[in-house]
Amino acid sequence: MLTPDQIKEKVGWAAAQLVKEGMTIGAGTGSTAFWFIQALGMRVKEGLQCRAVPTSAHTHELLTMQNIPVVQLNDVDKLDLVVDGADEIDEELQLIKGGGGALLREKMVAFAGIQYVIIADNSKLVQQLGSFPLPIEVIPYGFRQVQRCIENKYGIKVSLRVKTGQPFLTDNHNYILDISLNQIHDLKAVQAFLKSIPGVVEDGLFLDMAQEAIIGYPNGELRLLKNKSH
Ligand code: A5P
Repeated sequence: MLTPDQIKEKVGWAAAQLVKEGMTIGAGTGSTAFWFIQALGMRVKEGLQCRAVPTSAHTHELLTMQNIPVVQLNDVDKLDLVVDGADEIDEELQLIKGGGGALLREKMVAFAGIQYVIIADNSKLVQQLGSFPLPIEVIPYGFRQVQRCIENKYGIKVSLRVKTGQPFLTDNHNYILDISLNQIHDLKAVQAFLKSIPGVVEDGLFLDMAQEAIIGYPNGELRLLKNKSH
């Protein structure tokens, strides 16, 4: 049986095989995307030419360590392929992302992708999104208004993400609020509500974005999910 980390390594390796000569790709953030970048680094070492837009400062560092040429999102037209992890994914390939706090750049990079592929171990595959607290990126100014507005709407607790006693700061110098909804029945309505609140920069619902997902299992099996509407 594979450990969770071995599963992530395996799906990362599988996604790295999708990168073709000359491609400009988007590289995701997180412990699964880490393995994709390692595997891609090996291919680059063997002579593959490609370049990558990072979705976070940390991913930028990882790409540099693997000698994968980095390019900025502003300097590309479209991305041939974007590969990223997810915190939750359902069978329709709807996602919750942002557990690592990189959701804004991840969504911008995903939006620029011609092909958006998610890699995940089977623990991320769920019937219904929502057990994982939904992250939203908010500007620090007046964030408590945003927090209260969501708490009042859903009658739940919304937490400000904290790291070593201080509010967690994103790469964009914003805060993250984590919303524990448990089960999200109407994804689009929740997203529309969050987007309507001034101060919300981005939400962690990635709806109708991913075309494919490679899901890894402890027995070594890989399952390819495809979004039929793409
Ligand atoms: C980063 O903000 C997230 O969206 C990650 O892509 C997501 O949390 C998956 O991370 P892991 O691969 O570490 O689970």
